[in-house]
Amino acid sequence: MDRIELYRKTLLSVSGNRLVEKLAIKYGRKLAGKFIAGDTLAEALDEIEHLNGKGIMVTLDHLGEGISHLNEAAAYREEYIRLVEGIAERKVSSNVSLKPTQMGLALDPQVCYDNIRSIVRQAKQHNNFIRIDMEDSPFTQATIDIVLRLHAEGLNNVGTVIQAYLHRTVEDVNQLIDAKVNLRLVKGAYNEPASIAYQQMNEVIDNYKRIIQMHLDRGVYTAIASHDDRIINWVKAYAKENGITADAFEFQMLYGLRMTDQAELAKEGYRIRCYMPYGTMWYPYYTRRLAEKPANLWMVLSNMFK
Ligand code: FDA
Repeated sequence: MDRIELYRKTLLSVSGNRLVEKLAIKYGRKLAGKFIAGDTLAEALDEIEHLNGKGIMVTLDHLGEGISHLNEAAAYREEYIRLVEGIAERKVSSNVSLKPTQMGLALDPQVCYDNIRSIVRQAKQHNNFIRIDMEDSPFTQATIDIVLRLHAEGLNNVGTVIQAYLHRTVEDVNQLIDAKVNLRLVKGAYNEPASIAYQQMNEVIDNYKRIIQMHLDRGVYTAIASHDDRIINWVKAYAKENGITADAFEFQMLYGLRMTDQAELAKEGYRIRCYMPYGTMWYPYYTRRLAEKPANLWMVLSNMFK
């Protein structure tokens, strides 16, 4: 395991510690601010307008995951319905991202399905799209099943995310392309064992390129969500060499990261979408961001002393 991988795994396991969580929640909100658009929907909608002005599209996420009661899921569902309405009323360029465990997947898969279906139906009325984020591996198959079931019901304004680090990924991509499911492709953000996931970054990158290529070669629209120049430059070059136009795919990056570069990609004529979280349940999202890059942790620590 290289140093970066060791750092990532250590931070992800420390972040599960209750004491660390309590301390972080007490002292960390201000520091997490860079990655989060605000506590409320109104603040997030203002920020979407601001990014749209720079040519950046958005996918809006109301923070929350791993709930312990289904009534929490119902409250999140209602917030998402308000969010879909808010986007439509403000006429901003934004679709929506949500987490399946936030909708109750770990507690009752049928209730989760019903919650997500209500949101997808609401979005369909406004011609909007719902992206179901991919969480850790116990939920991979269940998440794919939800999306396929919604498509079978005629609700095709919903897609999901595929993680390049999983061994199963090429098979999933084949199945989901055949079912015409719109996918966001990522490296993968969770701590997964070697029995099911590549552990070396070069293996993850090879698999990532493989699944991007599967989309581009077959003319299937896809979202490439990465801050990694090795991926971004490779996509640009591959598209150019193969006569693939810039409207055949979009780049995606997280709110608070490489914001100047996001605007630059828009200026270059690429489609770029920013994943924008808002809300108060920021802790698990935030620690995954710190785990991804030592520089993110350094940025937080140095801000503490300003
Ligand atoms: P990574 O962190 O691997 O860094 C690689 C290199 O990229 C760095 O060495 C550096 O050169 C460059 N780089 C990275 N960050 C930079 C920065 N801020 N400034 C300059 N250079 C930088 N995961 C998941 O499991 N399920 C999901 O649903 C999603 N959804 C999602 C949506 C979006 C929009 C994004 C961008 C990401 C996700 N992810 C995700 C997270 C994803 O799986 C992955 O953990 C992170 O994107 C980190 O991988 P990267 O490829 O971005 O760069």
